[in-house]
Amino acid sequence: MGSNFHHHPNGWVGKTPWWKDAVFYQVYPASFKDSNGDGWGDIPGLISKIDYLHQLGVDVVWLSPMFESPQKDMGYDISDYQAVYARYGSLEDVDQLVEVCHSRGMKLILDLVVNHTSDQHPWFKESRSSKTNPKRDWYLWKPPRYDSAGNRMPPTNWRGYFAGSTWTWDEQTQEYYLNLYGPFQPDLNWENAECRAAIYDNAMRFWLDRGIDGFRIDTVNKYSKRTDFPDAPITCPDALHQPAPEMWCNGPRIHEFIHEMQTQVLGPYNAVSVGELSNTPLPSQVFPYVSAAARELDMVFEFTMIRLGQGNMFHGKYIYDPFSLSSLKQHVATWQTFIEGTDGWHTVFCENHDNGRAVSRFGDDSTPELWEASAKTIALWQATLTGTLFLYQGQEIGMRNMPASWGIEEYKDVESLGFYNEVVESGDRKRVEATLHGLRILARDHSRLPFQWDDSPNSGFTEEGVDPWMRVHDQYRELNASEQLKNPDSVLGFYGKMLKLRKEYRDIFVHGTFKLLAPEDESLFMYVKESSVQVGLGSEGDRRKALVVMNFTNRAQKCPNVGNALGCRKGGEKLLVSTLRCEQVSPENDAELRPWEGRVYLNFDL
Ligand code: GLC
Ligand code: CA
Repeated sequence: MGSNFHHHPNGWVGKTPWWKDAVFYQVYPASFKDSNGDGWGDIPGLISKIDYLHQLGVDVVWLSPMFESPQKDMGYDISDYQAVYARYGSLEDVDQLVEVCHSRGMKLILDLVVNHTSDQHPWFKESRSSKTNPKRDWYLWKPPRYDSAGNRMPPTNWRGYFAGSTWTWDEQTQEYYLNLYGPFQPDLNWENAECRAAIYDNAMRFWLDRGIDGFRIDTVNKYSKRTDFPDAPITCPDALHQPAPEMWCNGPRIHEFIHEMQTQVLGPYNAVSVGELSNTPLPSQVFPYVSAAARELDMVFEFTMIRLGQGNMFHGKYIYDPFSLSSLKQHVATWQTFIEGTDGWHTVFCENHDNGRAVSRFGDDSTPELWEASAKTIALWQATLTGTLFLYQGQEIGMRNMPASWGIEEYKDVESLGFYNEVVESGDRKRVEATLHGLRILARDHSRLPFQWDDSPNSGFTEEGVDPWMRVHDQYRELNASEQLKNPDSVLGFYGKMLKLRKEYRDIFVHGTFKLLAPEDESLFMYVKESSVQVGLGSEGDRRKALVVMNFTNRAQKCPNVGNALGCRKGGEKLLVSTLRCEQVSPENDAELRPWEGRVYLNFDL
């Protein structure tokens, strides 16, 4: 390939935007690398590891919020968009990070958190100071309701993300303000044009002018709420507050707002955008956001796959709900194919800072062998899917969930503790146990453990003797980057190899079409990827194909007939890669897939 031109699936030939082929890597600043021994990761620490990321094959760093913040939701509660949280560094450090990335041909995107601010943001302080303050309308204020007994009630019955109501009472002005997340995260009022203009200037242009390359856009579909503020239907009869996503997700003006953001800010800077699009499970709802013609977002994160295992989102989220391989495959197939033949684009990811570790959820980390095999198969799976690939820090070394023996005191996340305290208060012992079980698999805390760099005390994340902000995984001596860097057969070595292959065969892996095979099979995950480029002048048949076969079980499985699946003459298939260690690959074990083995075959010569 080598060129940056490719054939659009429906025949249109054009220049591929750089971000389609790029590999993005999310850095959670508190947990990546501490440079000054205070137990918190920081930007200088990140800068010291840019070469590690470069070597791995990362093109773009997405840095989670490093702005001034009271840190009640780890920086997703911003009190000053233009200042850097002192523990993370300074503006100069960000400037240097931009420079260090750019000098290696890499890019940097920041997190844009503009559905809400912190309650400590000066905008909110002004807004809450009086009903007549010019910024009163920058947030969503409503008078109380009263029940028949005269008790004060919130304006609606909506349940917020972190448990409790979406409304917080303000004594001083005797009104409620809306907060979809914590009470310390008041929602901005996007209906107010002056407020939107301030967001664009203050939170966006300021950073784009400093040279960053775009944004991951937090909670992107929640800016437009229903302005009649109706009660949600009662779907959880025993709960005080009701799930109400249809009241504040994908609201009436959402496409107008995002289009405005694109045309007024992102577009003029040529900035890349990836939006966090939760509660939007239908392709027909997602497509308008990512169609190039609509000029809204370049791509979004869609969550039905990563939500597997979660119970009811707004109440029983942490009551674990086991899922089958066929349902996982179905979700992947839906989202792999929904942009085929259109001008839309999509993302590929299986981890982020809001979820448990992929190897612990979708793989099998019950023994060292299965851990290694399944972490590699996850790498092979992700690297062969169509769309822009996002990795989360530590995924590339197969970092695992925290040990099951750790107690609730190791969980720091506001959401984990919100759900836990809620069930404890309910007094339902069974539900407390069930919630703890769910948290051990699904909690947002797992991915926030310090990065395991090496086998020195505190895993090389911070100095010996320092108390890191979250406890270091017990297993860091065996599972760390430095150990794996020495070994090309490690999980890290395998990620590096897969990222290279992904680029080399980008017409198949990044841009190809996807066809799921054996959808009902509960052991094997198999699909055929077909190149977006036609070779030679031949008919439709002249496209290069890859067959991906993965054993998603801990038992050996018979390998299906590869030639048939690829539609090539007998013996015409070539093994491109297997997750087995080199010395284990031989024609004799072709017929059988080992536990958690994954392979890719091609229908053409390498
Ligand atoms: C997004 C973030 C999450 C945060 C929430 C509120 O979902 O990913 O971490 O808690 O927004 O800003
Ligand atoms: Ca530090």
